[in-house]
Amino acid sequence: MKIISTVDELKNYLKGVDGSIGFVPTMGALHDGHLSLIKKAKEQNSFVVVSIFVNPTQFLAGEDLDQYPRKDEADKKICQLAGVDVVFFPTPDEIYSVDEVSLQAPHIRGYVLEGMTRPGHFSGVLTVVNKLLNIVNPTRAYFGKKDAQQLNLITLMVKQLFMDVEIVPVDTVRESDGLALSSRNVYLTKEQRAEALKISSSLYEASKMVSQGILDVSKIKEEMLKILEGLEIGYVEILNRNFEVIKEVEVTQSIVLVEVLIGETRLLDNIWL
Ligand code: PAJ
Repeated sequence: MKIISTVDELKNYLKGVDGSIGFVPTMGALHDGHLSLIKKAKEQNSFVVVSIFVNPTQFLAGEDLDQYPRKDEADKKICQLAGVDVVFFPTPDEIYSVDEVSLQAPHIRGYVLEGMTRPGHFSGVLTVVNKLLNIVNPTRAYFGKKDAQQLNLITLMVKQLFMDVEIVPVDTVRESDGLALSSRNVYLTKEQRAEALKISSSLYEASKMVSQGILDVSKIKEEMLKILEGLEIGYVEILNRNFEVIKEVEVTQSIVLVEVLIGETRLLDNIWL
């Protein structure tokens, strides 16, 4: 496995690669969620690139940029064991200069839900993903459904900017008790972690109601809010796959999304119904 930290070196190296390239962008502190993206990339491509870059532009002032878990050595080992071909490990100066051309998240879809609590966050995500896709020029790039809005906006960007890459969505990986894996779970105390289980429980309840034929969005939300009682809720929303508001769940076309703040930790989860 090759570890590369400059754009020029990576571009040169990839020029010599034959066959399809699968790309998995990450911010490191790798867990089994990231690994499932890497595994899928391995299955579908002859060459796999993983980037590890804690992207400063997607953190708002006062957020956890400095505290964000960094586990560089462990991450390299995980990538090696997973059969990754190249890990791209750039510094912020390698990716950003002082005077930048800017890429803005769309005004509506980029500023609702997580984009409302974190205005500007998705502009930073799209900017870095655009740069990384330009550097790696992959055949396919892999993103988790766990960050459903991010996935939706990246798919939109690739379409609107006529980019030549296939965006592959990957199912959410959970702990056996239902908690969605996230690099930020390490911030949770034991008690907070137990509280966080209400999130997946509320999503399972929504799924159960839909399987019983209850499709009314306000009824489902009401039951979910009962389960989430006691938590500081960012949002509970049921939308179609284009992130538009709906009144009734349309099976195979809907997403139920929850954002909760536990202590200082913002946790996101969703289920695709
Ligand atoms: P990060 O949070 O490190 O996540 C990297 C990728 O792993 C994302 O596509 C995310 O959706 C996916 N992922 C995270 N937890 C997952 C889980 N439990 N199951 C399945 N996939 C999961 O998302 C980012 O980094 C950044 O915003 C990035 C896209 C790299 C841009 O900086």
